[in-house]
Amino acid sequence: MTQTVSRPAAGARKQPLPLDVEAIRADFPILSRTVRDGKRLVYLDSGATSQKPRSVLDAERDFYENHNAAPHRGAHQLAEEATGLYEAARARIAEFIGAAVEEVVFTRNTTDAINTVAYALSNAATAKEPSFRRYAVGQGDEIVVTQMEHHANLVPWQQLCERTGATLRWLGLTDDGRLDLTDLDTVVNERTKLVAVTQQSNILGTINPLEAIVARAHAVGALVLVDGAQSVPHQPVDVAALGADFLVFSGHKMLGPTGVGVLWGRYEVLDALPPFLTGGSMIEVVRMEGSTFMPPPQRFEAGVPMTAQVVGLGAAVEYLQALGMENVQAHEEALTAYALEQLQAIPGVTVIGPPDTVARGGAISFTVDGIHPHDVGQVLDDHGVAVRVGHHCAWPVVRRYGVPATTRATFYVHTGYDDVDALVEGVRAAQRFFGVTPEEATA
Ligand code: ALA
Repeated sequence: MTQTVSRPAAGARKQPLPLDVEAIRADFPILSRTVRDGKRLVYLDSGATSQKPRSVLDAERDFYENHNAAPHRGAHQLAEEATGLYEAARARIAEFIGAAVEEVVFTRNTTDAINTVAYALSNAATAKEPSFRRYAVGQGDEIVVTQMEHHANLVPWQQLCERTGATLRWLGLTDDGRLDLTDLDTVVNERTKLVAVTQQSNILGTINPLEAIVARAHAVGALVLVDGAQSVPHQPVDVAALGADFLVFSGHKMLGPTGVGVLWGRYEVLDALPPFLTGGSMIEVVRMEGSTFMPPPQRFEAGVPMTAQVVGLGAAVEYLQALGMENVQAHEEALTAYALEQLQAIPGVTVIGPPDTVARGGAISFTVDGIHPHDVGQVLDDHGVAVRVGHHCAWPVVRRYGVPATTRATFYVHTGYDDVDALVEGVRAAQRFFGVTPEEATA
């Protein structure tokens, strides 16, 4: 097997990072463990799920140890405290995205939030209450998505179309990993009821030009749902500036616990939607003959909610606010610039997605000639580097670019240049291991 040495790419640069990586790492207990026989954990899979700082773990533990009760029920002190903590977290999260408190609905995750909207739109057609029928989707209507969507923002819309007889249309992708908006004005037209689009691709890293899409959708009277699962954790997002009707995101990708996500909706729109899940705590009056429902957000929060997780998400948001979302974004931009440069300097490595940092976040997918992504992932894991491999729940994207799968690295607040160097060294090690080292990489 050919032996190689790593060397930095020509012109490789490490801009000073806005965040103090060492101090941040000390806040994440899991980052002090080792993997694969004593190797430092290089966690580059925050796009799948982020690690949690101690303050989030403490907030959850404190809730269970000292305040545990079902919020909005019970007359006892613990119930009052639980309600206070639950609603304080809602207020903090609302502030984080520039929303009104009553526009923030807690869901299990992004997928749950999108299904809540999709089922509300199909239930609307048969709603008894006439005010719930305003946004009903039916035969002859169209739903627009993009070819870049995560399955969570594609399959629920396919299913909505199957339930209602509506038609699914989509915007395609350019060769360099961006949305192709050439046909925007024909794909989004008077028949369009809703446009569902991601703000940042989980696989390509692309940050989409939402302004043009929102403007076109609203010009034809369509609603817009923005999938913020990969953007809200990584950049400042303000719902007023976004101008959309819904924004959905997951707590576990933004330092919070699993099992909690957010559906933000413009109040006027949320208020005109029927519930998806029904049962306790979302009702106004229940009689054997029928029931009426609470206004938002309670209308969409049936059952005892994931209270400790909501409290944990509140702590996660507090942690991110202390860092400053502008700093988080600038930090990841610097890492992305460096990583793109380093990876693209390796012969045989192809980045799937925008090759530079223009309108691009810190999710980098790539292929390595002659090595299946799963094998790349295996060698990286042997080096302590955790990445995701596969189609990343965005199968149409890998198909579009003619690859079976990719290896994907994603960055976050604790990521440093040493992590990127470990990734690059691991990729070179994979090339050596599989004997596909291109000549240029050989010392
Ligand atoms: N949606 C997550 C990802 O992109 C799981 O990895």
